[in-house]
Amino acid sequence: MMWIILLVTVLLYFILTRRSRSTAEPPLDKGFIPWLGHAVEFGKDAASFLNRMKRKHGDIFTVHVAGRYVTVLLDPHSYDSVLSDSESLDFTAYAQVLMERIFDLRLPHDQLTKAKEIMKRNFVEISLDSMNGTMRRHLQALLKAETPQNLTDWKEEGLFSFSYSLLFKAGYLTLFGGEQNNNPNDPSRVYDEYKTFDGLLTKMARGTLKAEERKTAQRVRKRLWGLLAPAGLTTDSGSSLWLHNYRQLLEEGGADEETQEKAVFMQLWATQGNVGPAAFWLLSYLLMNPEALAAVEGELTHISQMEASDSSHTPLFDSALEETLRLTAAPFITREVVQEKTLHMANGREYALRKGDRVCLFPFISPQMDPEIFHEQQKFKYDRFLNEDRSVKRDFYKGGRRLKYYTMPWGAGTNGCVGKQFAIKTIRQFVHTLLTSYELELCDPHAQMPEINPSRYGFGMLQPERDLLVRYRPKHTRCEH
Ligand code: HEM
Repeated sequence: MMWIILLVTVLLYFILTRRSRSTAEPPLDKGFIPWLGHAVEFGKDAASFLNRMKRKHGDIFTVHVAGRYVTVLLDPHSYDSVLSDSESLDFTAYAQVLMERIFDLRLPHDQLTKAKEIMKRNFVEISLDSMNGTMRRHLQALLKAETPQNLTDWKEEGLFSFSYSLLFKAGYLTLFGGEQNNNPNDPSRVYDEYKTFDGLLTKMARGTLKAEERKTAQRVRKRLWGLLAPAGLTTDSGSSLWLHNYRQLLEEGGADEETQEKAVFMQLWATQGNVGPAAFWLLSYLLMNPEALAAVEGELTHISQMEASDSSHTPLFDSALEETLRLTAAPFITREVVQEKTLHMANGREYALRKGDRVCLFPFISPQMDPEIFHEQQKFKYDRFLNEDRSVKRDFYKGGRRLKYYTMPWGAGTNGCVGKQFAIKTIRQFVHTLLTSYELELCDPHAQMPEINPSRYGFGMLQPERDLLVRYRPKHTRCEH
């Protein structure tokens, strides 16, 4: 009897919640599996899945994913109709869902807005120069500590793990203190815990952790909350003014200690999760492309370390970084539809969006990997974003019309990345130090670029499936022997 009631309830649920498309709405693709819809395919490799949907439906369609309807827009000429309407399409609602799933954290809407203001003030206006200086010092000290004692020896390492760990530790020391703040935590310990967390991140976001993984995630998060507990508490703690201001904001907003620790951990992820992987891809592409490496190295040798972290004129480096991000930055730009909206496409078509659905832009497919915009779109061309006179190239076209958005690694609009300048300066500083003070080469000169881990599409910078083995040693080695 019980199972009949259960069956009828389930059937009723699906009949009552069955959705059909009205003619004013984008094409609807529900998939065959009740409730889950396309969730499995989406989570496994979102780029392949969305490319398949694009071939089937065109530049706009709605897919059913784990109980939610997501309208995916892939026409960059039409992106502004989403990015410019923060009234009907809300950034925060979905951000809060992810915050809860990944960080077990609930913060009120106004705290998120104020936190962003604080970050903007610190990372864009008042503290950028001093933070860059601190970052430079930490990077150099960490690199020195990594350098082999016996200077004739090469040190072999995976480039991904080397770039990620070094930049993470330098960023942690710069922004979160760690060293002087009566917090004896070795940045390596924080990094090790963080890496385990990062490995589970996409599953946490999708709610697909297995029981054992859930336990690991909880354990690691707890340890990280504890390790970060003192960060930002006082101004003389070695952590940045930004973090101190942020903690004060949480305190004034009535957040208890545990909530504060969770929020500080979320900031650790937001500030450190993308820089290391971006530096890894850039160095990998340079090492695989000798002409690009010579050009960028030549340019960077002419500027000092100080100039590399301050604003300086490095058109070749800038273009190589933009090309790297075109190929490897793949965030979803997601908004929640909080009131009914008509979406105006650039081609004149209009589509109705339903309240409660989500809208998702995926610039990785278009513009970034769109063969109509970028010739040989899979290839790394370090000077793709330069005109012949080495000025920045900004003219890219689709359908004969110039594009406003031709790459979007930093998002766009009011919710674009606040840390963009800090991130670029950090990566330039890291690459400068490595290329000018160290010999760096592939262990296997015939090595191929590692494949992308397809489960990371949608979560900012992509990560490789396997590492790339490199070796390095200080440059003066050769002169001394
Ligand atoms: C290569 C490095 C980085 C990349 C590729 C990157 C990418 C992005 C993207 C795509 C978004 C927008 C998300 C959306 O619209 O839904 C974003 C937002 C944000 N980023 Fe970054 N980011 C990087 C480094 C950083 C750093 C170093 C910081 C801080 C120091 C930072 C702080 C933020 C913050 C606070 C936001 C949220 C803005 C808001 O609330 O509206 N990012 N980032």
